[in-house]
Amino acid sequence: MPVGIDDLAIYVPKLYIDYKDFAEARGIDPQKLEYGIGIKKMALADANQDPACMAANACMRVMKKNDLNPQDIGRIYVATESALDESKAMNSFVIGMLEQVYGEDSLEHAGGIECKFACVSGSYALYDNANWIRAGENGDKSAIVIVSDIAKYDIGSAGEYTQGAGAVALLIKNNPRLLAFDEKVASTIIKNEYDFYRPFGKETPLVNGVYSNLLYLIQVRKALEAYKEKAIKQGYIKLKEGESITDHIDYINVHLPYRKMGEKALAYLLRHEWRHLPRWKDITTHLKLDEPIPKDPRGTIESLLADTEFMKADEKFRKEFMKTTYYREVFDKKMSSSLEASAIIGNLYTASMYMGLRSLVEFEFGKGFDLYNKRVGFGSYGSGCSAMVFSGVFQEGYKEIASKMNLDKEIGTRTKISINNYEKLHSNTKKFDEAFLSAENEFILVSIGGITADRAGFREYCYAS
Ligand code: COA
Repeated sequence: MPVGIDDLAIYVPKLYIDYKDFAEARGIDPQKLEYGIGIKKMALADANQDPACMAANACMRVMKKNDLNPQDIGRIYVATESALDESKAMNSFVIGMLEQVYGEDSLEHAGGIECKFACVSGSYALYDNANWIRAGENGDKSAIVIVSDIAKYDIGSAGEYTQGAGAVALLIKNNPRLLAFDEKVASTIIKNEYDFYRPFGKETPLVNGVYSNLLYLIQVRKALEAYKEKAIKQGYIKLKEGESITDHIDYINVHLPYRKMGEKALAYLLRHEWRHLPRWKDITTHLKLDEPIPKDPRGTIESLLADTEFMKADEKFRKEFMKTTYYREVFDKKMSSSLEASAIIGNLYTASMYMGLRSLVEFEFGKGFDLYNKRVGFGSYGSGCSAMVFSGVFQEGYKEIASKMNLDKEIGTRTKISINNYEKLHSNTKKFDEAFLSAENEFILVSIGGITADRAGFREYCYAS
């Protein structure tokens, strides 16, 4: 019996920063943000919001829209890199919030943990929960995997224009309506790295941006290599002479710290997959450029970055390749729809790729394309670092889900915030009761730390109806 994503729901805070205001405040050309990064609006958590209440809001939405009772759910996992406690798991906060609505102890049977591995942990959580169902451990219950994060960088840093906030809740079950996972193909790569990390007590990450971009590409490519072998072995994909695996994957959905990173990842993967095929000769002839070769044939990330001449020539080649119809056709057909949400929401860390899936379904369906039986390949990456490549096939029931999707409606009426007010939120100087927006039909944070010392660190939430 196929297992996969039956439905999904999103929660995005209604406050946002406009890229033009941001560019003006930081003295950056707005074109760099719009085209160089691919951002127009960055969602921002209000003073009374945190990743746990965003997760609970997304979870309740997926439960409500599917008329699910707590008894229908066997597991709730939360994948995040915005942990609120060094020990207490985020799903426990989420359970506490949901039980305010569904009744005390109504979810006591729904086990789960908080998962951490930068932006990739949601993919591990999905894989583990799909296998829990495949093993028949679930009885008749479904699992919910929630990916929730606030992407927050230092003021004035290059990461500041890649911020965002939001959550996606994914309902995992047998015979899913939306997407069935391909079995025995998920492939992972892992390495001890310091491209992006957040030491204890630090609210914003330490980032080596250029290094993290290249590491993302290399690790996803390696995971794709492993995936390719498995997908061929399992018979999902049969390659004829001169064909690439990318010819057989209908949609490509990758981790999206920012929109442009998706475009660059596609270029990198296509170059890698096409380099040894007859079509490559046509491409380089068309470009009147040979693909640059690094001085050090080992091609390690350190040797590549040290080879500045190669890096410069390679950037030039990549940009020219991205202008060709060879690239554009694949981009338009297989990736473009998955990037729409990223441009108006921003970085969601763990939730980025799943917001990409949400975006892909809504916008492809909106363009009139039939997704039934189409295969989507996922390229998930988390700094530190690990990549996971896996795939799934859209099921017949997807139309029921896709036809009700409406990103604008689901986010709700959005409020643009001034850079001055954004900086107040960023510095955490606003109290919970000083939120910019009044909450309605959602969970909010009302206090941290009780009035007595024995309640230090307690986080209290309420459902604002
Ligand atoms: N108009 C249009 N585009 C412009 C421009 C302008 N005026 N000025 C610059 N750009 C383009 C650059 O050409 C570049 O495009 P390219 O990627 O196609 O080469 C792009 O804007 C980004 O500019 P660049 O100066 O190269 O990078 P940056 O210093 O702004 O840093 C990140 C970008 C992503 C490295 C930085 O935001 C970061 O560190 N983010 C956090 C880490 C991260 O997200 N890592 C991703 C992997 S997980």
